[in-house]
Amino acid sequence: MTLSNLKCTLLLVVFSFYSADGYYYHFMSECRYSWKDLRDMELIERRIYNKVEYARYNSTLKKFIGYTDHGVYNAEKWNSDPAVMAQMQAEVDRYCKHNNAIYYSNILEKTAEPYIKLRSAKPASSKHPAMLVCSAFDFYPKAIRVTWLRDGEEVTSDVTSTEELSDGDWYYQVHSHLEYTPKSGETISCKVEHASFPQPKVVDWDPSMPESERNKFAIGASGLVLGVIIAAAGLIYYKKKSHGRILVPQS
Ligand SMILES: *[C@@H]1O[C@H](CO)[C@@H](O)[C@H](O)[C@H]1NC(C)=O
Repeated sequence: MTLSNLKCTLLLVVFSFYSADGYYYHFMSECRYSWKDLRDMELIERRIYNKVEYARYNSTLKKFIGYTDHGVYNAEKWNSDPAVMAQMQAEVDRYCKHNNAIYYSNILEKTAEPYIKLRSAKPASSKHPAMLVCSAFDFYPKAIRVTWLRDGEEVTSDVTSTEELSDGDWYYQVHSHLEYTPKSGETISCKVEHASFPQPKVVDWDPSMPESERNKFAIGASGLVLGVIIAAAGLIYYKKKSHGRILVPQS
């Protein structure tokens, strides 16, 4: 997965003016790009009066476009002024490229590997007797692909997945469900593709007893053994006591 297929926008409201009667004016700058080398950087600067965008500078077009009579009038005026034009176009490097290079190295290129958990659960429908849940936790960035493999072949039917859920702390989680009918000897795997992995990570389902089940089993078995020992000890004690009892003849 590459970041090149993401569309990035850095938004900044440059300034706003408010007046007593509630009318206001503001500029909004957007730096739009989709390549790491910022080659397609586009600056869009919107000029807005009372919530209506009346003119916009588009650095790809290298000019202003007006959307209202007032906007068209001003766009013509600004477009015919070489100083304004040079200054606007210079903002692409000075403002957009400069800030986004920093933004890239500080945020966009950072990744956090997901922690993957594969478990069985009760199927949601009665179509299949078994269901597996593959969860990926605490990953960044959001883009991820979770798929299922049956003996190495991708399975697409009876698969449902949640969206990438935001944990609210920059990390995300996602859960994918596969409902299936187990066959002996097959291998079911969950495949996760994420920017933090050099290669997709494949986790095979181990149908043997999971650890928590093994623990419960061990506790139960120890309890049983202990119970048997105590019962046996009690029985022996009781037998010994009743043997040693002297019967006093009654007269
Ligand atoms: C800027 O102009 C280019 C070229 O016409 C266009 O493809 C692009 O969508 C425009 N951007 C905006 C936000 O209007």
